[in-house]
Amino acid sequence: MSLLPDVDRILLGPGPSLTAPRVMRAMAAPTVSHLDPLMLALLDDVRARLTRVFRAPEGSFAFAVSGTGTSGMETTVANLVEPGKRVLVIVSGYFGDRLAQMCQRYGADVTRLDVEWGRACDPAALEAALKAAGRVDIVAMVHAETSTGVLNPVRELAAIARRHDALVLVDAVTSFGGHPLEIGAWGIDAAYSCTQKCLGAPSGLAPVVFTPRALERRVTCRSFYFDVGLLEDYWVRRKYHHTMSSTLVFALDEALAIVEEEGLDARWARHEQNHRTLLEALAPLGLTVLPPEGERLWTLNAVKVPEGVDEAAVRKHLLEAFNIEIGAGLGPLAGRIWRIGLMGASSSPRLVIMLTGALESALTQQRRAVGA
Ligand SMILES: Cc1ncc(COP(=O)(O)O)c(C=O)c1O
Repeated sequence: MSLLPDVDRILLGPGPSLTAPRVMRAMAAPTVSHLDPLMLALLDDVRARLTRVFRAPEGSFAFAVSGTGTSGMETTVANLVEPGKRVLVIVSGYFGDRLAQMCQRYGADVTRLDVEWGRACDPAALEAALKAAGRVDIVAMVHAETSTGVLNPVRELAAIARRHDALVLVDAVTSFGGHPLEIGAWGIDAAYSCTQKCLGAPSGLAPVVFTPRALERRVTCRSFYFDVGLLEDYWVRRKYHHTMSSTLVFALDEALAIVEEEGLDARWARHEQNHRTLLEALAPLGLTVLPPEGERLWTLNAVKVPEGVDEAAVRKHLLEAFNIEIGAGLGPLAGRIWRIGLMGASSSPRLVIMLTGALESALTQQRRAVGA
């Protein structure tokens, strides 16, 4: 008996999102080795596409790390942080906290700027924290905090960090390909993302970018696997470092081709439109999102669980009756929110309508169960 899934789950959680059909087909191409000329040409294409999609300045090194989003996080941290580096981390949710932990593990002297879960970081709070902290080498932040559905104002925050001569490190795991992100124009020095959210590919690679300013301020990397110098030897100078998966590179290249064919501006507009359509469709069901207007992600909607509703039973009903996956809350938001992702191939009006109908059915079932 095969244990392979024989259902097409409709992935509307915090990730992975649906894999685009063209990306699925790309993954069926024959395996080639990590040093095959065909693979090397693909790596060049991926680098060029990532540089454009990140809108990174001339001289940047944009590539993909073998691993999920967390490997992208670790690559940026491992190459910029060493014992004694002073890092200020904006922590407005679960992933900001992971970033702070990662910097700590690499020996940084970490200052946390804690922000209430469900709210964005106020640029004035960063200005004050930087003044209080004295010299800071790096300011690290999450652009799209997937645990709370909040968008941090990275452009303003980066400008402040730059005025204090700090490097700007950004987690773009839930924003890359879904929300405006301008590495060059916003003064971001290093950033990382993943393939399984707004790009519409499966998990397994982490797009990463280092600008010339970040490359100059690199430290001796204590990780072999994530050493950007060794990875550059492979991606640029074709020297063996590890056996990179051609299948995942085919997937990423195809996903990036789709992004560029759609156009970044059109893609961002699609994510915004489908987010707004979802909010409008949820309103008659009495459902609203946690973050205030202006701080909301388009890619991940943190929908408040109404009083008296069993949130896990609703998710179970969606999965069993409709094949739809949505996510639960994390940490202090466990039981209080559902996380509904509309990312990449999962950001479509058709799926918003299906989900809303399924949620209505789940809520009706709950009311019946309590005899309301
Ligand atoms: C903002 C953010 N950062 C980092 C990660 C870690 O990514 P991964 O689970 O792909 O390792 C996630 C995962 O959801 C995320 O949402």
